[in-house]
Parts: sequence; structure tokens; C-alpha cells
Amino acid sequence: MKRYEVLATQLANDVRSGRIPIGSKLPSLRQIIAQHGVSQSTVFRAYYLLEEWGLIRAEERSGYFVTPGAGVKETPSSTRPASLAESAKVDISDLVFSVLEAAKHPGIVPLGSAFPSPLLFPSARLLKSLAQGARSLSPWSTVSDLPPGNDHLRSQIVLRYVGTGVSVPPDEIVVTSGALEALNLCLMAVTRPGDVVAVESPGFYAALQAIERLDLRAVEIPVDPTTGLDLDALAAALEKHPVRACWFMTNYQNPTGVTLSVEKKKALVDMLAEREIPLIEDDVYQELHFGRERPLSAKAFDTKGLVMHCSSFSKTLAPGYRIGWVSAGRFADKVQRLKLMTTLSASIPAQAGIADYLQHGGYDKHLRKLRTAMRAQLASMEGALARWLPPEVRWVTPSGGYFLWLQLPDAVDAMALHGLAIQHGISIAPGPIFSATHSFKNCVRLNFGHPWEAKIEEAIRVLAEILKDPAVRANSGAGTAA
Ligand SMILES: Cc1ncc(COP(=O)(O)O)c(C=O)c1O
Repeated sequence: MKRYEVLATQLANDVRSGRIPIGSKLPSLRQIIAQHGVSQSTVFRAYYLLEEWGLIRAEERSGYFVTPGAGVKETPSSTRPASLAESAKVDISDLVFSVLEAAKHPGIVPLGSAFPSPLLFPSARLLKSLAQGARSLSPWSTVSDLPPGNDHLRSQIVLRYVGTGVSVPPDEIVVTSGALEALNLCLMAVTRPGDVVAVESPGFYAALQAIERLDLRAVEIPVDPTTGLDLDALAAALEKHPVRACWFMTNYQNPTGVTLSVEKKKALVDMLAEREIPLIEDDVYQELHFGRERPLSAKAFDTKGLVMHCSSFSKTLAPGYRIGWVSAGRFADKVQRLKLMTTLSASIPAQAGIADYLQHGGYDKHLRKLRTAMRAQLASMEGALARWLPPEVRWVTPSGGYFLWLQLPDAVDAMALHGLAIQHGISIAPGPIFSATHSFKNCVRLNFGHPWEAKIEEAIRVLAEILKDPAVRANSGAGTAA
């Protein structure tokens, strides 16, 4: 999509959701330019498109106004801001895509990225394993390695579970194209269109996108940056809604970085088991712990086969290989069939290569180095934040992963901050992409997964400057995180 089309789509969503009410005047040119980081001509082209769509009309010398029929194009429930107690259809993709697209340019300081630096991965050693793994494949592997996947890889994955004292039968493991596919297949396995799914708020936007794509409804459960998922709110939601599945992160949650205590993990599994509700557990950061011990997953407490534990090698070893898996409990057969029906198989040479690396490449040694690097980068990032940002900015130091969730002063509009930061060659992940209701307007997620260098320190200094711009202090306060 061109920039003006992205902008027009965002504004159309604002109109349809009522954030820009019928009859009201569109925000001024200056405000739009500051908020979205676009040029004047992009704004004009977006306005012409909105006019073509019949959503706005120009009034001579007064500006552009939302037309009376503009709000009825979509089903009202799809974009209605849902209170946490309600379930709602989800409409998040346009916002997420526009933020991700803006951050894709090479040379940008990637504080908004979801990935760690590829320079931290043992790519040369991995290539050796890829060659070795591919050489060892039989010509029949195109058949034998179809889902559930390459046997050698699945047995290596089982061994990693043993390392946390969790016993998972190899038959439960289905190899997928990254964790994202595992998560999506699990959701497809346990829901039908219209079903209600409990997700975290703030939570990983891909969960919201999957819910949107499968025509499900979301009920958002609050996540506290210090204590994690609010189990009382979850219990209340389960009473009120026919929740068919939960999609939660238990370790180093994206975006807050919070980890649930062992007691909470167990209580969560018990609560869902009592009601026979499946838990799709997204655990892609589990190996990135800063303490000595790898944290337990909720899967460790699963006695009924209801927990589908999803992970991958994307955050720790090889993002581009697209190899993930799910330990799918009682849903393993269904997930395996869905995998066959959708994308048939994960890349067979990549599976063999990662299996060879896990057995011979020194994965644990690499992980120890990676964790040490992340810890050092966190310290540098926290130092820079303390040096440059105003003292009202708050965050909780995570015990693993590579995300920091900043709560900025209430008046800060993270979308406007994002727009201006992009103009300065810096990406950030603004809070509204992490909730179905576009809340967390004063929050941002920062990535500390890149080796520290002067340009990151400079980016933090520039962000602090941008924070002083009145265009960034335009948030009404609604939908902020306290
Ligand atoms: C929380 C979370 N889950 C899943 C994924 C997707 O992982 P993969 O690249 O293995 O598909 C990501 C990637 O950003 C993520 O942050």
C-alpha cells in the first residue's frame, strides 16, 4: 500500500469506529502531519481518497468534515471500543501494518523491532549444520518429514523439554513454520467463527490479527507489568463469556516483559482445566532468561493435555529458517492435519539443519552468550533512558527477553511520537498496536536486543527531545495506562 492509502485507511477506521465522530471536522493538517509522520501531499491524497469513499466532504474555507453516512459501512460491533468486560470483534491489522511498514526501512534505529540483532546468532556454525543436515537427508525425506515433522528435530526438541523437567511425548510435537504458524494452527484447531477467545491486554498484536482473520471475538484480560495476567479478571471473564480458548504468554510477555510466578502459572492451568478450556501458550522467549534457571512454562502443570505450548528458534538462533513447533497435547492430531491442509510442511532442509545444530552445534553455549549480551544491552538501555528521559517515565526491569515497556506521562500520544520518531530514523512500537481497543496511548515498547552502540544512545536522546514537542502531548488521557 502507498503511504497515502495507509493513512486514508487509518483515518477511515477512526471514522467508522467513532473516534472521529460523524459531522466533526477532521484534525488539522499540522496535527495529521505530526501524528503520522507524513508529508502535506500525502495528507491531501489521503483526503481525496476518503472523499471518493464517501466518508468525508470538503466545505469551502472550513476544511473537511465526516459525512453523516460514514459510520454505517462496517458492522458497528467490529470497531466499537470494547470495555474489558465485553467481548468484541477485532480490527487491528491496518494499524499494525502501517506501524510495521514504516519501521522496515534499512538504516532505521530498530527500537520498535520484534527481533533481536541477527549479529548475535551463530550464522556460520548454523550454515555448517544446514549443509550437514541437508546432506544426511534421504531422498524420501520429502515424504517422511511431512507433519508432524523431522524425527531427529522432534527428538531434540523433546530433550530441551526434559531440561526443565517437563516430559513431552514426541508424538505431541508438530513442527511448524515459526511459532506464529503454531499459534495460528492451535487457534484454528479449537475455535469456530464467532467464538470468544481470551487474550492479554496489552498483548502481542499477532494474537489480535489471528482473531480478526478467523472472525472470532476477543475478550481482553489486563496484564500488570509487575505481576502479569490478572487472574481475578480472567475468572470473571470466564463466568461472563463462553470463552473457547485462551492465548497467553507466561514468560517475558510481549510487550510488558513480565513473567508469571510459578504459583500463578499453576493457578492459571488449574482454572482452565476445571472448565476444560484450552490454553495456547506462546513461549518464544523462554530460553532468554537472565537468571540461572529457565522459567517453567504453564505446560509443566498440564495434566489434561489442554495446554498447547508454542515456541520456535526465531528469537534465539535462526529467525529466517522459520522453524517452530507446538507441543499440542490432546490437540496434536488436529493441529497436524491443519498443518497438512494449510502449508503442508515446514522447510525440510531447515528442519534437518536445526536438528543437526541442536545435537552438535553447541546451542547451550550460544544461549549463555546470548543471554549475557542481552543482560548487558538491558543495562545500557536503562542507563540511557535514565540519562535522557524525564523522571516521570516508568518501566519495570524484565528478568528476560528483550523488551522494555515504557509508561510515558499521560498526555503523551505514542502514535504521534511514533510518527515523529520515524522522521528522525527511529522506530518504536506504540502502545495502541497491543490492544483491540487501541488503548495504552501513552505507552511504547522498546527493543534492547541489539548490541549497544552510539546511535542507539543518540536515538534515546532524540526521543527525549521529541517528547517535548507539543504535537506529542496531545493525548486526551482516555485509554492511557496509569
Ligand atoms: C510473542 C511472540 N510470539 C510469536 C512470535 C512469532 O515467532 P516466529 O518468528 O517464530 O513465528 C513473535 C515474533 O515477533 C512474538 O513476539
